[in-house]
Amino acid sequence: MVLEARIEELWRFEGQEVTLKGWLAHKRSSKRIHFLIVRDGSGFCQCVVYQPEVPAEVWERAERITQESALQITGLVRRDERQIGGYELGVRDLEIVHLTQGYPITPKPHGVDFLLDRRHLWLRSRRQWAIMRIRHQVVHAIHRFFDERGFLKLDAPIFTGNAVEGTTTLFETDFFGQPAYLSQSGQLYGEAMAMAFGRIYTFGPTFRAEKSKTRRHLAEFWMVEPEMAFFDLEMTMDLAEELVEYIVQQVLAHRRFELSLLGRDPEALERVRRPFPRITYTEAVEILRSPETQRMLRADEERLQAERAELEAEAEALRSERPAGEVRKGEIEHRLAEIAHRLSEIEEELKNIPLWMDSARNFRWGEDFGGADETILSRHFDRPVLVHRYPAAVKAFYMKRDPRDERLALGVDMLAPEGYGEIIGGGQREDDLDTLIARIREHNLPLEVYEWYLDLRRYGSVPHAGFGLGLERTLAWICGLKHVRETIPFPRMMGRLFP
Ligand code: 4AD
Ligand code: MG
Repeated sequence: MVLEARIEELWRFEGQEVTLKGWLAHKRSSKRIHFLIVRDGSGFCQCVVYQPEVPAEVWERAERITQESALQITGLVRRDERQIGGYELGVRDLEIVHLTQGYPITPKPHGVDFLLDRRHLWLRSRRQWAIMRIRHQVVHAIHRFFDERGFLKLDAPIFTGNAVEGTTTLFETDFFGQPAYLSQSGQLYGEAMAMAFGRIYTFGPTFRAEKSKTRRHLAEFWMVEPEMAFFDLEMTMDLAEELVEYIVQQVLAHRRFELSLLGRDPEALERVRRPFPRITYTEAVEILRSPETQRMLRADEERLQAERAELEAEAEALRSERPAGEVRKGEIEHRLAEIAHRLSEIEEELKNIPLWMDSARNFRWGEDFGGADETILSRHFDRPVLVHRYPAAVKAFYMKRDPRDERLALGVDMLAPEGYGEIIGGGQREDDLDTLIARIREHNLPLEVYEWYLDLRRYGSVPHAGFGLGLERTLAWICGLKHVRETIPFPRMMGRLFP
């Protein structure tokens, strides 16, 4: 009997013969040897088929097997420091479970639309493997964090009759003849559950209908929302800070290899240690309007111009080269495609910088921060920054006002460093019945649908607070990705409902 093993546990079987079940990710061959990179979901393993060591039919199958064919492979587990995971398999037997023809995602570069159209297959690639393993780790860390602190995980409904975050971003649907909306946030239900159970969190899909095509926007995303009775803004900021530190440290403890596959420098994450800086909205506005911000953006501009010049020179040299063979020709094409892609990104940024400089310099107290403002602010800090006490006018109806300055709401956003911007939004809730009714009216929201929510202020109302952390934005930052679309298995964005 041969042992069955998963790639991630090969270290337990050094010197033994095991069987792996998986798919062929990649093959490199020379005259008498095939290097098969096999993936089984838990990892990638190099399997070496050496002609003199295997029966003729096994050699023939190794010759025939194609990318993404399913296989069962048996061999001796050998230590090899150079391999990812540290082990390889000296192959003795190979069965083809399913022979694949014409797998569309080849080792050559593909455009992101091509890949998104084939997301159901793209998930098999190494980079996506790394991102999804980190996603799982973050979800696991969140559950562990709250469980250890006595929170109950309870679920909010997805069909809802009322708005949470403003009526312009609601997906409307038909609920047995009655209009209903897909939940923007579980918060209002979270408040009801906090009054029943003290400390709870919801963690589910949430929906936003704005027609946005930015790199941080998904129409469907996952949000974790703790809600705590007898909590104020300061306690909530402490909790948010503790949670984010914990998530990052768990990823560093368990997913270093995946981070390295993504080319993510762990050093930036190692700095994510409490305390995080805390600034008021008013201080944030000063930073935005400061000469430092102008200097930072001008330095960006110069850096990008230098990079552009360098890339153009490299492309020029590559185009004038006479490639010796097909391999070199392929390499040149690949590199030229990379350069063209990067140059178009640089053009885009260079076009934006003067606009950002302008809007930062002229930012007026009272406005909400846009994505670019958040990006700029977050770059002034080497770890996440908490921005609190926003003007109440730009925030949701449920936010409690600052008793020391009625213009301000007791709300907080956490901005991730390196330009990632907002990953958390939350704060203290209005707990007074009459004030809350007045706010609902001011926001032109229909009072009837909030009657149940108002009951929470009629019966045993207490100071309470909470926040929402967006899973995908947090992942984009931790993984160092440009866009949130790769952080969720099947992204839902404007113009993308399939696969
Ligand atoms: O700031 P938001 O809108 O806050 C709320 O929904 C509160 N009701 C949460 C609460 O207090 N319980 O959203 C919270 C977080 C944002 O900071 C961001 O990380 C994420 O959710 N988020 C999105 N992520 C991806 N795509 C979108 N369209 C997002 N909108 C918000
Ligand atoms: Mg927000």
